[in-house]
Amino acid sequence: MKITRRKFFRVSAGAGMAALTATAVSPFLGVVNVAEARTSKKSKIVPFRFVVVGDTHLYEMPNHRFDKTFKKAIDDILKMKPKPDFVLFIGDLAQFGKVKELEKGKRFLDRLKRAGIKYRIIPGEHDWYLDMGKTWKKMFGRPYWSFDHKGVHFIGMNSILVRDYWTARNMSPWERMLAIAELECHICGLWGVREKQLEWLKKDVKNLRPDTPIVIFTHSPLWDYYPRWNFQTEDAPQVREILSKFEKVIAIHGHVHQVVYNKTGNMVHIGNLATAWPWPYPPVELPYPKIRMLRVDPGDIFDGVGFASTFIDDTFLGKMKYETWADLIPEDIKDGVPL
Ligand SMILES: [Fe+2]
Ligand SMILES: [Fe+2]
Repeated sequence: MKITRRKFFRVSAGAGMAALTATAVSPFLGVVNVAEARTSKKSKIVPFRFVVVGDTHLYEMPNHRFDKTFKKAIDDILKMKPKPDFVLFIGDLAQFGKVKELEKGKRFLDRLKRAGIKYRIIPGEHDWYLDMGKTWKKMFGRPYWSFDHKGVHFIGMNSILVRDYWTARNMSPWERMLAIAELECHICGLWGVREKQLEWLKKDVKNLRPDTPIVIFTHSPLWDYYPRWNFQTEDAPQVREILSKFEKVIAIHGHVHQVVYNKTGNMVHIGNLATAWPWPYPPVELPYPKIRMLRVDPGDIFDGVGFASTFIDDTFLGKMKYETWADLIPEDIKDGVPL
């Protein structure tokens, strides 16, 4: 049998994992126990599935390779049986926030609409800083929203707002955009949802009962993963505080372009894949090291990328399955990550 590099990593990871099994599976066991405890509870959730796709980073030039991977994602979503209830686009539709890039992205997304699949969308930093969200808002409306679906309260927020780093530096819109498009922008400062959205969130959840199932979408993680790359949201502690009254919150984010998972209090966090490219893991320990993707073949445009489908059951247990076109996901999370 030919052992490829990918296979070698998987075999060695598997051997290491067997030795760790006794302790390392405990996070999942906790989730299972909660499920058992909750099944007797009367649930208002009608089980359903939704899809998360994002970080497509489209360029204006035609037939760019990122068009191909986004097209494949949309094709796959359209083939899903049964159809997902809706699709959430989790930011970074465009690469430089140009009108043509955003228009191209909307054309892709509108294929879903034409097939009867609704989509909701939040912005990423790449969509925003050329014209401060003007085109994006014209196309997609308000960048924060909520809706109820089959017993679950869904929230989307714009988490990529920074303080003004451009006026004092006399930067043009293009220079402002190029700066924030860097993975490690030294002048941009930390991102956040900021006061207006925090006030809105408080009002939005004020009258909801603590047993309301909540799913929140943001472009950046709502926990401190790696602030140097803005793998964080500065005012995430306030968001978490507002949502702390709920029994359980599922928080889904983009931006990191990789498989990553964490828990903070009542919140489970999970990162989505990009369709454009995978980021390497930053040099910090992963909170749940077993939940990570395998190494990527840089020569294959369909490796390291994809999207995710999430199933929500009637006890508000979620299962997020990474949909990829290569052998990217380790065996033990191949069928999905329990949320
Ligand atoms: Fe991105
Ligand atoms: Fe991003």
